[in-house]
Amino acid sequence: MSVLLTGAAGYVGSHTCVELLNRGFSIVGIDNYINSSPVALDRVRQITSKDFPSYELDLRDERALRAVFEAQPIEAVIHFAGLKAVGESVKKPLEYYDNNLYGSIVLLKVMREFAVRSIIFSSSATVYGAATQMPLREDMALGCVNPYGWTKFAIEQMLRDLCAADPGFSAVLLRYFNPVGAHESGLIGDDPSGIPNNLLPYVTRVAVEELQRLPVFGNDYNTPDGTPLRDYIHVSDLARGHVAAMEYAGAHKGCEAVNLGTGKASSVLEVIKTFEQVNGVPIPYFIAPRRAGDADESWSSTEKAERLLGWKAEKGLGEMLRDAWRWQKQNPKGYHA
Ligand code: NAD
Ligand code: UD1
Repeated sequence: MSVLLTGAAGYVGSHTCVELLNRGFSIVGIDNYINSSPVALDRVRQITSKDFPSYELDLRDERALRAVFEAQPIEAVIHFAGLKAVGESVKKPLEYYDNNLYGSIVLLKVMREFAVRSIIFSSSATVYGAATQMPLREDMALGCVNPYGWTKFAIEQMLRDLCAADPGFSAVLLRYFNPVGAHESGLIGDDPSGIPNNLLPYVTRVAVEELQRLPVFGNDYNTPDGTPLRDYIHVSDLARGHVAAMEYAGAHKGCEAVNLGTGKASSVLEVIKTFEQVNGVPIPYFIAPRRAGDADESWSSTEKAERLLGWKAEKGLGEMLRDAWRWQKQNPKGYHA
């Protein structure tokens, strides 16, 4: 079976490439490298000792995308490509709607033209907005608090509408919680450009002494140690979840939203302490003001993923943090060494 991955060179995309190739799938990658490097795909080839076609193109370039579908026998799509920085989306909403929403529309139109009717979409737990009832379940009311979130919400709705209009279409909306960690080889990992927005890449850059101290955004939340609780999930577990979702979509029509999380919550201070313990590296930090939009807690119900996909996360926080550190230590400058 041949699978097209949009955003293949990105953090989650590259790990999913490895998982698919190791499981015997044929893959085709496309990426415009706006937030990644082609080196990531070379590393995928190195890890798996397998080759595959990859194209540098923007998803919104309909002609170029059509040429890929003409050249390759694509049967299913995993759609990672998108912009993902929450703060930037607040400042540049149009760019986010254009890239994420318009890019998805072009992709779906070309898929329809070539009769490809199976898609796995990278959604996010951000679609639960300011929900306070935990764990977060797929049937809870949705609502977003920033433009990035609304692009995910809108694409989810578009896929639900498409499945309602075409009974032969399959879509799985994967709502990721907080992906962290890296492939055990240390050859691929999270490589955000500039100062990281997310906790783990900030922690590893402090560990590698590229940044001095980690700002902990508030310690007065309504949680046991005052810092927010999140459901961190190993990116390799997440990658396996995509394969399970693709197998599900191959056997079932219609649209399903599924959380990919561990069901366990860790605080920011727990992440710091665990990182120091498993890696033996100090993480100097200071308490900074709260970051706008951060919730007390966010963690997943895992029931639907287990029931529908037969998938469950296996790796614990220690393993996630060991693997994140191995990647950063081996690649202090990421892919741009
Ligand atoms: P990433 O930025 O590493 O990967 C996205 C990839 O898409 C990048 O390689 C980028 O160059 C590419 N891309 C962006 N716009 C494109 C376009 N118009 N045409 C072609 N390629 C384009 O991000 P990631 O962490 O791998 O996330 C993958 C997906 O999962 C994204 O849609 C993101 O919103 C979603 N998601 C990520 C997280 C997370 O914490 N990493 C959490 C929830 C959801
Ligand atoms: C964030 C986004 C979310 C997105 C997800 C993946 C916000 C409000 N939420 O989730 O929409 O889907 O990333 O891209 O931006 N923290 C620090 N110091 C730091 C960085 C983070 O203390 O330098 C804390 C945060 O306050 C939070 C936790 O670490 O409590 C996790 O933060 P982060 O990694 O940014 O993920 P989320 O905020 O959960």
